[in-house]
Amino acid sequence: MNKALQTELRLAKRMARLGTETAFEVLVKARALEAKGRDIVHLEIGEPDFDTPENIIDAGCDALHKGFTHYGPSAGLPQLREVIAQYVSGTRRVNATPDEVVVVPGGKPIIFFTILALVEEGDEVIYPNPGFPIYESMIHFLGAKAVPIQLREDLDFRLDVDELGGLINDRTKLIILNSPQNPTGGVLTKQDIASIARAIGDRDIMVLSDEIYSRLIFEGEHHSIMSVDGMKERCILLDGFSKTYAMTGWRMGYGVMRADLATHIARLMTNSNSCTASFTQVAGIEAIRGPQGSVDGMCAKFKQRRDIMVTGLNQIKGFSCRLPKGAFYVFPNIQKTEWPSKKLADALLDEAGVAALSGTAFGDFGEGYLRFSVANSIENIEKALDRVGAWAKKNL
Ligand SMILES: Cc1ncc(COP(=O)(O)O)c(C=O)c1O
Repeated sequence: MNKALQTELRLAKRMARLGTETAFEVLVKARALEAKGRDIVHLEIGEPDFDTPENIIDAGCDALHKGFTHYGPSAGLPQLREVIAQYVSGTRRVNATPDEVVVVPGGKPIIFFTILALVEEGDEVIYPNPGFPIYESMIHFLGAKAVPIQLREDLDFRLDVDELGGLINDRTKLIILNSPQNPTGGVLTKQDIASIARAIGDRDIMVLSDEIYSRLIFEGEHHSIMSVDGMKERCILLDGFSKTYAMTGWRMGYGVMRADLATHIARLMTNSNSCTASFTQVAGIEAIRGPQGSVDGMCAKFKQRRDIMVTGLNQIKGFSCRLPKGAFYVFPNIQKTEWPSKKLADALLDEAGVAALSGTAFGDFGEGYLRFSVANSIENIEKALDRVGAWAKKNL
């Protein structure tokens, strides 16, 4: 028989329930247009356009030369776990210990592992919508029920705590919070956090608090539910290096949680990645311990760009945009254009050469909105505004 054997791909059923992150798909489409000679302004992807600060790069290179090229402990290098425990103790005003820290390759694995470790089929998980698409994807993948809590524009994209209270029931296993928020830039206030903790009360519900943008706050302060009395035991804090130190490609994040849960999350690391890259972790120590001027500098630049973007969008017909208080996204309301979000995002890419994301890439409650990342130069942001403005004049 010389004919190649044709076999059917028999995927596991659960793969049909796995979602994705549209930003990567739009990036591929935008790059394909560029390959054909088109000029595209990239406002789709959520990563700082800055280079990793020099002191961190030096620490990583130095670590490579010093032999940090081998496997390390699954939960992370003890020195880094110690530094993270101190950092979290200071910033969240809790007593966090190294055995409560698990270092993983990026913030994302903490989402995956937490849901994998805690949530059974049929359990309910409350998550922000519009929100980071990986939450919904992972909840569905594991056969749990995804219960969206809508983030409301009239609340500056915070959640309504009474509404949250109404969604909590005996089947609720986990609540996911994200502040500062992707995609809206919404920031929960101290009062919100306290009210959320009150709504949970003494129920045995865990909270995954995604605080990956905790250092990118433009107004006010960052508040963590971990700081609320009685919540630390029920909280898994997610933070990391990708956004704060422009280290997206290094792949390093961490979770802080009760020590008994940390051992299970570390076991998931043993089963999946073995460990986070060792030299990367040494660079992580320098990131937290070294000078923090670059973090403040990047935050100031994002704020300046946010202001330009929001002012510019508000002058475009059919667009209205609130001033986000954190992260590096703006989330304009485009309902007055009378275009569905996805169709508008596609048209802006194809016809105006501006890559943005449809609000629906972040869940059903994202309909009527677009997300633009301001992790790009002022020059490019102004170019994008000119293009979108010209497109709107012609088409709306
Ligand atoms: C809210 C949120 N959580 C987690 C992540 C994942 O970050 P990392 O690249 O470190 O995995 C992102 C990245 O965009 C994010 O926006």
